Amino acid sequence: MSSIESFKQEERVFNSPADFVNNAAISGMEAYRALCAEAADDYEGFWARLAQQNIHWTKPFTKKLDESNAPFYKWFEDGELNVSWNCLDRHLTNGNADKVAIIFESDDGKVTRATYKELYEYVCKFANGLKSLDIKKGDRVIIYMPMSIEGVAAMQACARIGATHSVVFGGFSAKSLQERIIDAGAVAVLTSDYQVRGGKNLPLKAIVDEALAMGGCDTIRNVVVYRRTGGDINFVKGRDTWLHELVEKQATVCEPVAVGAEHPLFILYTSGSTGKPKGVQHSSAGYLLWAMLTMKWVFDIKPNDVYWCTADIGWITGHTYVTYGPLAVGATQIVFEGVPMFPNAGRFWDMVQKHKVSIFYTAPTAIRSLIKAAEADPSVHPGKYDLSSLRLLGSVGEPINPEAWMWYYKNIGGERCPIADTFWQTETGGHVISPLPGATPMVPGSCTLPLPGITAAVVDDGGHDLPNGKGGLLVIKRPWPSMIRNIWNDPERFQKSYFPPELGGTTYLAGDGAIRNEETGYFTITGRIDDVLNISGHRMGTAEIESALVANPIVAEAAVVGKPDETTGESICAFVVLKRSRPEGDDAKQLAKELRDWVAKEIGPIAKPKEIRFGDNLPKTRSGKIMRRLLRVLAKDEDITQDISTLENPAILEQLKQAQ
Ligand code: WT7
Repeated sequence: MSSIESFKQEERVFNSPADFVNNAAISGMEAYRALCAEAADDYEGFWARLAQQNIHWTKPFTKKLDESNAPFYKWFEDGELNVSWNCLDRHLTNGNADKVAIIFESDDGKVTRATYKELYEYVCKFANGLKSLDIKKGDRVIIYMPMSIEGVAAMQACARIGATHSVVFGGFSAKSLQERIIDAGAVAVLTSDYQVRGGKNLPLKAIVDEALAMGGCDTIRNVVVYRRTGGDINFVKGRDTWLHELVEKQATVCEPVAVGAEHPLFILYTSGSTGKPKGVQHSSAGYLLWAMLTMKWVFDIKPNDVYWCTADIGWITGHTYVTYGPLAVGATQIVFEGVPMFPNAGRFWDMVQKHKVSIFYTAPTAIRSLIKAAEADPSVHPGKYDLSSLRLLGSVGEPINPEAWMWYYKNIGGERCPIADTFWQTETGGHVISPLPGATPMVPGSCTLPLPGITAAVVDDGGHDLPNGKGGLLVIKRPWPSMIRNIWNDPERFQKSYFPPELGGTTYLAGDGAIRNEETGYFTITGRIDDVLNISGHRMGTAEIESALVANPIVAEAAVVGKPDETTGESICAFVVLKRSRPEGDDAKQLAKELRDWVAKEIGPIAKPKEIRFGDNLPKTRSGKIMRRLLRVLAKDEDITQDISTLENPAILEQLKQAQ
């Protein structure tokens, strides 16, 4: 664990337009401060009030927070509810029944709509189908499905019968799938014949077959297959069922099963510092509450909005901000099957224009690659599209560098739309630090301030508060309703990873470094604490160096990792993608020198990368996350022996072996 001592300060400040502020759910900083004060004054009472107002309980809770077995916290423990009721049934009687819940656009551009009533009926049939397979409350169900109405319905159907789902992203390999099936002890896999992305058909069912054939998956009784393409698949009699055959004979009513507030709604596997993924276990009530509140507070959701979160349901963002949050608040949302670059890099902007999207939420990686594409090909520049329907933008998943922020703000938001740079994690269940678009002045590259009720702080290795301007560990001091409840099957690892004894054993350790601005107290996330480098005793955030590199007009994207160094402890190795073609020979040497000097100028000589390596791209997963563990191996000039099954572009590795 280490802290960061220097970080370039960003000075530009942006305010939301007055009419946005006037109409916002949380309007003005006073309103924000009032909520924070309410939480500070009576923490449990604050959350209890919100839980009573937002959730439909079948049995009201009397207990608020139980800390007796910390850090295994419990919220609203004696209350009962059904999450699917809260997302669907409530809209049958509140005027939303015929409102469009989901506008689905397929990879090849076909549009399907489902109203709340239609989605409700389909989920009921789906849930009855699962019941007919003897799937019950508490059973675990793996969902390995593409972005689709059926995929969202699968999650809702599990929630309806109290089964705990575990969605596995469609880009994961058979091996990863098998590991998750075994760890979760799942009774069924819900999948599809194929997944269609970027014009290609990917055989999901065949991967399920392969995973199950690897052995150890004896708990699986059924495989349910959604027919997406009708392409060839292998069918195992007695085990496999077509989804459409399973649901067609079912009733359109399915009584929701009431579960306790702490009942595990889902398990979602995420990478930790060891090789074995962690099964992050979430609750029902606390999780749902925060999904709803952040939709209202951060996304300022209104009845007429067309909301689009581009994340896949295989990630936490797709759970909270596709499947649960938007439906619980009765929003109309886009669900998109495809990828940002197909059929061309104008796809997102074309869809915003076509569907009149008003709230758009995506990842900095996508933004940066679209910047690059727009510069290379003016015909897909966002300026070619009518984006005037947009009123709010969001960013998630990694720090957004100020240059990407500015591009997003100008070219997508027309300098009119606030940007919510939402910091959160699989473990936090929903946003924890983010501007409130109707209140918080925005600073590019800063996720600004904790949401009301979130006691985020920056502390040193011993858990002591650090003053603003001093970088350290990001923690959340008090338990909050949507926090991780456990690591499935591994309570010890849960305690060790998130509540280390050095910090007192009850404070949540986020795993990121952070620094607060001296005047404003704004948070800037400086990167994972395992990505923080120490060079000659000076501490440096990789995000910071990347931001400096990307600020250079010739650079499209950059990733920085540490490399063990005999003299300096660690040295900096930068992997760089230029907006022009990949340089070679003397050209590469010259550009590497220029970039080193550039970084020295931007931050200081200490931040100069010792090595720079150029590639046409960086190694990424299909979801666009840079695979840093591979970069660390490359930086050390070692051969890659790790699993690269989730790597989208293996050919890139060869290019990045050459240092400048
Ligand atoms: C990690 C969590 C948040 C849902 C998707 C990713 C990084 C996330 C931001 C942000 C800077 C961010 C952190 C965090 N991260 N959002 N706005 N600014 N960093 O969830 O896979 O659990 O990853 O993503 O490092 O710890 P995840």
